[in-house]
Amino acid sequence: MRQKIVAGNWKMNNDLEAGKKLALEVLEKSTGSEKAQIVLGTPYIHLTAVAADVAGKNGIEIAAQNCSDKASGAYTGEISASMVKSTGANYVILGHSERREYFSESNELLAAKVDIALENGLTPIFCCGEPLEIREAGTMYEFVKEQLTESLFHLSAEDFAKITIAYEPIWAIGTGKTASSEQAQEMHKELRDHLASKFGQEAADACPILYGGSCKPGNAKELFSQADVDGGLIGGASLNADDFLAIVNAF
Ligand code: G3P
Repeated sequence: MRQKIVAGNWKMNNDLEAGKKLALEVLEKSTGSEKAQIVLGTPYIHLTAVAADVAGKNGIEIAAQNCSDKASGAYTGEISASMVKSTGANYVILGHSERREYFSESNELLAAKVDIALENGLTPIFCCGEPLEIREAGTMYEFVKEQLTESLFHLSAEDFAKITIAYEPIWAIGTGKTASSEQAQEMHKELRDHLASKFGQEAADACPILYGGSCKPGNAKELFSQADVDGGLIGGASLNADDFLAIVNAF
């Protein structure tokens, strides 16, 4: 049975006080018996405080939204995977489309980030997904499968077993234009078959594949009912504890 995961991606939101308040509200309104693993993906400034307040309580885990591909050194402004791990966070979101677009993160760079995250005991939530023009051209499966091939197919079977994937069609992120449950299931199945071609069916079947892109309390249940959808990576709705937990409880 694959793990179910619902991860919040706060993106660049919440100052220290607001972040602490939101994390504590999620903790207070969770029960610890949710059917999905709760992960809070916070800006760096929150990692230590939020991890100290909620990590491990009711099973809640913390994620960074990025990390450097370098171990340490003269890289002003960067945060290393070991630094992330030292805060109490156990997850890291890598390859989000906003980082690929605004910070030119390539599949090759992300392969290096996956490696250093794994080396430091972090679970990567590896993001992939196509832009609207690729979807409209009908080449979305090839596009997204190439993202997995170039960033994950160098991994050993042992390391691949530690990966969680998030499929986020870029045209659905922040737009309110959620992918249909059929579109999500079709892509997730294609990706799982692609993973099976490299790592074998058993390993592919064990890999959680989350959906992200305007996942809301009103559509989560149908999305999560799909055979190959194992949870969500939630942006806007994760900024409200009630909405986020409604999605967590959509299983
Ligand atoms: O990483 C999750 C995010 O990209 C989805 O954003 O606001 O469409 O849920 P949103």
